Amino acid sequence: MTDASQTTPWWALRYEALAALDPALAGPTDDRADAEVAFVHALLELDAARILDVGAGVGAHAVRCAEAGHHVTALDLSPRLLRLGRERWEAMGGAPGGPTWMPGDMRWLPAGSAVDAVLLLDSFGYFDDEADHARVLAAVAQHLRPGGQLVMSVGNPYHWSGRARVVHSAPGALAEGLDVVRSFRFDALRGRLEERTLCFGGAGRTEAPASSVRLYTPIELEALLAAAGFTEIEIHGSEGFAVPDEPQPLHATDSVTLWVHARL
Ligand SMILES: C[S@@+](CC[C@H](N)C(=O)[O-])C[C@H]1O[C@@H](n2cnc3c(N)ncnc32)[C@H](O)[C@@H]1O
Repeated sequence: MTDASQTTPWWALRYEALAALDPALAGPTDDRADAEVAFVHALLELDAARILDVGAGVGAHAVRCAEAGHHVTALDLSPRLLRLGRERWEAMGGAPGGPTWMPGDMRWLPAGSAVDAVLLLDSFGYFDDEADHARVLAAVAQHLRPGGQLVMSVGNPYHWSGRARVVHSAPGALAEGLDVVRSFRFDALRGRLEERTLCFGGAGRTEAPASSVRLYTPIELEALLAAAGFTEIEIHGSEGFAVPDEPQPLHATDSVTLWVHARL
């Protein structure tokens, strides 16, 4: 029998494996999602817009944007994660006007009407082949109307360079009896942040498929975005891990996250 982890890329396995342990592991905390969506709104300055959330996962941002009156399509590779998102919307009251849940691969976005904004939050840089990252941005550009906007959150390689870090799950953040230890190291030669995730709980010790995310420098990101047709490209920083409430200058090593805001 073939082991799926030998033949299937990590990004097609990891998030479902984490969500199976606890859906809270496949997305941000509620407080963080609130802050991220508030910052996205501050950048976009749009009311009742058509928004495509790419790599939407369990829909933390999608449901908040829909609640704020936007027409949201949540796209993710995993139908299972999208189902959790749909259930979350239903648990919130499930009013009409909720997100459209669309399974798909971000490199080949299904044909659809042009949207006002695309979100790529913590969902970029997964592929081994660099051309696939350019393909994602080209697909996003094709989906945006002229003047449409893109907001991305990505890791800052200048922050991670030379760093290794071990992070324990916060007390009370996960289901009773579950504890998670995440260890990060940056492979500077390949420009990739590698994460191993060990989970301790009822089933004993399990390890989720490790991630390996290409972190582009701001200059590389600008070049990739310009090649995809984006013109007004701004890259903001963050104070450590915190989500900004207004655009922050990019401090080379302090900012854990780069917030990209670009227009076609
Ligand atoms: C780190 S999660 C981020 C989820 C959400 N954007 C957030 O910030 O909470 C990355 C998501 O990307 C999805 N994903 C991975 N590869 C994908 C692909 N090729 N096409 C579409 N979605 C993908 C995963 O299933 C996962 O839900």
